[in-house]
Amino acid sequence: MISEKLREDFPILEKHKDIIYFDNACTTLKPKQVIEAEMRYYTEYGGCAGRSAHRLSKLVSEKVEEGRGKIASFVGAKPENIVYTKNCSEALNLVAKTFDFSKRKKVVGTILEHHSSMLPFEIKALNKEIELVYAKPMPDGTFDLSVYNELIDRNTALVAVHHTNNTLGTKNPVAEIAKIAHDNGAQIIVDAAQGVPHSEINFRKMDADYLTFSGHKMLGPTGIGALVAKYEHLDRMPPFIVGGDTIEQVKTDSVVWAKPPRKFEAGIQHYAGIIGLGEAAEYLKRVGLKNIEQHERELAKIAMDGLSDVQNMRIYGPKDVSKRTGIFTFNARGVTPHQVAIMLDKMKGIAVRSGVFCAQPGMEHIGACDGAVRASFYLYNTKKEVETFTETVKQIVQLG
Ligand SMILES: Cc1ncc(COP(=O)(O)O)c(C=O)c1O
Repeated sequence: MISEKLREDFPILEKHKDIIYFDNACTTLKPKQVIEAEMRYYTEYGGCAGRSAHRLSKLVSEKVEEGRGKIASFVGAKPENIVYTKNCSEALNLVAKTFDFSKRKKVVGTILEHHSSMLPFEIKALNKEIELVYAKPMPDGTFDLSVYNELIDRNTALVAVHHTNNTLGTKNPVAEIAKIAHDNGAQIIVDAAQGVPHSEINFRKMDADYLTFSGHKMLGPTGIGALVAKYEHLDRMPPFIVGGDTIEQVKTDSVVWAKPPRKFEAGIQHYAGIIGLGEAAEYLKRVGLKNIEQHERELAKIAMDGLSDVQNMRIYGPKDVSKRTGIFTFNARGVTPHQVAIMLDKMKGIAVRSGVFCAQPGMEHIGACDGAVRASFYLYNTKKEVETFTETVKQIVQLG
């Protein structure tokens, strides 16, 4: 059970009392605890980490490593598994760009991937550096393991799949897919941008090789995310972006790289973001990921119960809410997705996303070539807000 009192932690909800924020799959609102933690970097710590000998630098170094520890514990990993990145996209690119495809060239993705986990591999496939194949979902948008068993073989180098889908809110059986990958001598990267903020994730238990996510989708700051990876992979991988603090020694004719994760964190980092992200992880832990997941499912059920029988409306993904999280994607016949989004905003201040959600091939695959409307719920949303949403959607559908 999540108390509505928690809404008081979010200054935006206080400032915009008339807004119903359902664009959480895009980015989430920030609680004051995160904003204050971020501010503390600028007002109390200053300085840069890992370089200078003065006390402020030492303080920032401590805070950066403290943040790494909090983030690691949040996803069931160790601090040395965590590489700070700008966002989930950068973490996905880091792996795609540094992965050793010299022995095996096949990558298995899914047609429902976000562009951030599809394009880094698609570019390589277009350049004929790798072979890329896409697993297709069942009609309700969920994936059966048989499709992975069919596609993943002894030629597969890497499996690159989502944890939770950003258009349908469905979850992929990632631990089972990891086992299939490993049984075939392949590795697996899990795009958990929509998973880490909403479900309990344990990197170790999942046995993924790499896992990626963004801070801003989990109450944290923008501009900070993470790659979580098995240390032996990080140790072998070449650096991605190079520069200050990635090295042990540089001569004009040789370089000795630093140990991971430092090897991958070139230049001055987003310290305020790191500290804020650590606080966001702690905040979510306090509320409890199981509570958050249950709350979102209850909200999704209200939307599904209220709208699944409405004529001239198409809801994407499984009708059974136990198979999905708090993402609710739909279209209304005769009204474009952008028109629906504008009307929701104008009529009741409901903020949703419209378009193809950076997943164009996936949207085409599910028959939403011209896009759709996506409402995505989070811990601060209320049943009353979802009821207002369903009533407003019904009125809009009647206009079509
Ligand atoms: C499933 C998924 N993967 C990756 C991303 C990219 O995240 P970011 O833009 O924070 O890098 C998103 C963003 O919406 C997403 O939903």
